[in-house]
Amino acid sequence: MDTLTMFEPERVAPDTEVLTAYCPVPGLGVLPMNAFLLRGREPVLIDAGVVALGDAFFDRIGASIALEDLRYVVLTHADPDHVGCLGRLLEAAPNAQLATTFLAMGKLGLAGHAIAPERVCVIEPGAILEAGERRLVVLAPPVFDAPESTAIFDAKDRFLYSADAFGAILSAPATTASDVAPGSLEEGIVTWTHVDAPWLGNTREEPFRASLDLIRRLAPRAILGSHLPPAFDMTERLLGHLERARTAAPSAAVDHDSLVARLVAA
Ligand SMILES: [Fe+2]
Ligand SMILES: [Fe+2]
Repeated sequence: MDTLTMFEPERVAPDTEVLTAYCPVPGLGVLPMNAFLLRGREPVLIDAGVVALGDAFFDRIGASIALEDLRYVVLTHADPDHVGCLGRLLEAAPNAQLATTFLAMGKLGLAGHAIAPERVCVIEPGAILEAGERRLVVLAPPVFDAPESTAIFDAKDRFLYSADAFGAILSAPATTASDVAPGSLEEGIVTWTHVDAPWLGNTREEPFRASLDLIRRLAPRAILGSHLPPAFDMTERLLGHLERARTAAPSAAVDHDSLVARLVAA
């Protein structure tokens, strides 16, 4: 795979779909880039895709719901891989509100994507967003690359939408995380976590473990990461991988010469 590619949506519950794309990472493999569509009385989209996906992203959503019915677009954070189609989405979905943090709103404004205040519902960790039959609990993820990052726990499906946390660089696309060889998944998560959260090695063990215990207590049936194939019944393993990432030596940075060599060899 040498370009960003959208895959067919993966149904992970009767009314919940993963909108999956894979992005090549030269010399290292591929990175999943997921958004999530939660159907119901008040449909919710978690994250707004990558701008390069364009029509493909809209086609996948439109195959499941009418865009006029979309009630919320929840942004986990304002990074480009999460907000790419946001402006077009809010135009095409006039009844949708953007649910995100105050800081994410500010970042969007500074990036030239100011959203009218009446289209925004500000959520912060600790908030609960009621969307039809769903109660979406907003919480801070244990690792992140942007301070406004929020994870979402859907009490209906018992899914944890973990934002960038638990992401993994993989050797090839996979339908579920359990399809990836255990050692490769662990290395992929450790490598991604070092890239995404280079501060992690400076944290103290106790508070970091407490942030992992919060997830343990939620006991999600699946962890649905923005950069991980759906991971059912793997919570304890994945928490262990984050603990290892905290103490493991950082992966070697890719410098100019090695990147050019990898691109030429690819
Ligand atoms: Fe990010
Ligand atoms: Fe991301």
